[in-house]
Amino acid sequence: MQRSALFALTAAMLACMPAAAFAEETGRGKTLARDVCSNCHDIGDGIDRVMTVGAPSFVWIAQNRKPGEIEAKMIRPGHPDMPEAPLTVADRQHLLAYIVSLAGEAAQQGDP
Ligand code: HEC
Repeated sequence: MQRSALFALTAAMLACMPAAAFAEETGRGKTLARDVCSNCHDIGDGIDRVMTVGAPSFVWIAQNRKPGEIEAKMIRPGHPDMPEAPLTVADRQHLLAYIVSLAGEAAQQGDP
């Protein structure tokens, strides 16, 4: 293969990678959200749960908070009943990627 063709191919592959990695992160984040956050938050997965603790939905959070603020909330003590086992850094990245990906969804009823 010609060197220039190889270069073009490599460049094309690299260009595709972030999107694929992002999809994987949001998928994992969604699973985590369902497992650890959905008791209190509407996590934007289309399942209509009854929320009583006054936690804003993840769609609302995505639209009204900056990624840094969201991440800080995942580590800051004082968030009511955050999971006992601390989330790993990777878990937080997955969750953040998932929450941020919801910014384009329609807002939910009952958010602050
Ligand atoms: C036991 C209930 C509960 C669980 C579980 C829970 N939250 Fe919350 N969360 C709340 C409540 C209540 C609030 C609103 C009061 C506050 O901000 O502390 C909140 C607020 C937040 C906010 C800030 C919203 C704002 O106004 O800026 C973020 C971000 C957040 N939660 C993310 C998460 C994530 C991610 C998880 C899962 C890892 C999670 N929460 C699990 C109850 C919960």
